[in-house]
Amino acid sequence: MHHLLLTNIKQLCQVETGEIYKNRVSGADMKQLPSIENAWLYIEEGKIHSFGRMDDVQPVPATDVIDVSDKLVLPAWVDSHTHLVFACSREKEFVDRINGLSYEEIARRGGGILNSAARLNEMDENELYEQSLKRLHEVIAQGTGAIEIKSGYGLTLDGELKMLRVIRKLKENSPIPIKASFLAAHTYPTDYKDNHDGYLNLIINTMLPLVASEGLADYMDVFCEQGFFSVDETSRLLEAGWKYGLKPKIHANQLHYSGGVEIGVKHNAISVDHLECVGEPEIEVLKGSNTIPTLLPGAAFFLGMHYQPARKMIDGGLPVCLATDYNPGSCPSGNVPLLLTLACTQLKMTPEEAINAVTINGAAALELTDEIGSIAVGKKANLIITKPMPSPAYIPYDYGNNPVEKMVLNGVVS
Ligand code: NIG
Ligand code: FE
Repeated sequence: MHHLLLTNIKQLCQVETGEIYKNRVSGADMKQLPSIENAWLYIEEGKIHSFGRMDDVQPVPATDVIDVSDKLVLPAWVDSHTHLVFACSREKEFVDRINGLSYEEIARRGGGILNSAARLNEMDENELYEQSLKRLHEVIAQGTGAIEIKSGYGLTLDGELKMLRVIRKLKENSPIPIKASFLAAHTYPTDYKDNHDGYLNLIINTMLPLVASEGLADYMDVFCEQGFFSVDETSRLLEAGWKYGLKPKIHANQLHYSGGVEIGVKHNAISVDHLECVGEPEIEVLKGSNTIPTLLPGAAFFLGMHYQPARKMIDGGLPVCLATDYNPGSCPSGNVPLLLTLACTQLKMTPEEAINAVTINGAAALELTDEIGSIAVGKKANLIITKPMPSPAYIPYDYGNNPVEKMVLNGVVS
């Protein structure tokens, strides 16, 4: 059996020493990134067994010892919101936006999500799987150690099932935990443009029972937005999801003050995601809830929109989470280190806050804090060994570059 000991770790970041794992980090506590300098870490059977300071190193039956002098060790990132399974890139729309069209205008003309759905429905399941697996390996190499992936580019029964089966196959074959969200309510397909009830009925009465009976999804997602799914439609869908045990994680308040935050909280959403359009009332609603606000600044960056009010949320005591939103339209990048840079430079989060947001709070947004998100005894050994660097702040500072030297996945160095 493989028993790995890491020694001379310059800084072991995001350690937890309490008996009970933290289930999130909120408000002012997000400024703290508990760390041990000059540390060791011992892994047995893929799990974190013990750790401490080098001057207090315990004898352990290691089969492998790696000296990581000058390097940091962190828990791998948890990317809690992605659309990593998709069939084609959309750089034409990127150019259309440069030339003055808006994201919403492109969508109204049948581009956007509908464009992705047309391509995905044509693509063979194996081809879709192979392309998606490649992307998954790329983001793992940039430090991602757990991920959520959505459906929502099918918009037909067959297309949605195809996407969810691809996600299931990724789950079965990938070295990292994956959660799946069912997002048939991503946009109205052309055939149902003027028949919203027809599409809602298709989702609720046909798709959901099949998705649930095959165990294909962990969460229910809806793009709650003007021009997409209204608050009332979202409400119907989330209620139906709950009946099948699918908890809500929804797209809310990306393009407008659309009431998405309130309806998500009302339905006990695990998280409400995007939040470009959030003010005091939405923040107040979030404060009185268990729902995690997940910010996706990569989409705001790529669409040239204003950024999420992260400071107000953190200063208001909320457990802010960050995720990439990796998708071919609004954010064609699953690069978490770059996301950290955006969080620091544009959202004015400190590096410690940003790292908390993609580790413990990312795990919380996927209900995985028992397994990942921090360096704690018994948690899965999915870790980042960085290149030599002075401190965690260097990760967002050194922007555009990959901080990862090696990943440890289930205790195995790759
Ligand atoms: O999270 N906002 C809705 N869905 C995706 C983008 C979908 C697309 O443009 O393909 C998002 O930004
Ligand atoms: Fe999204």
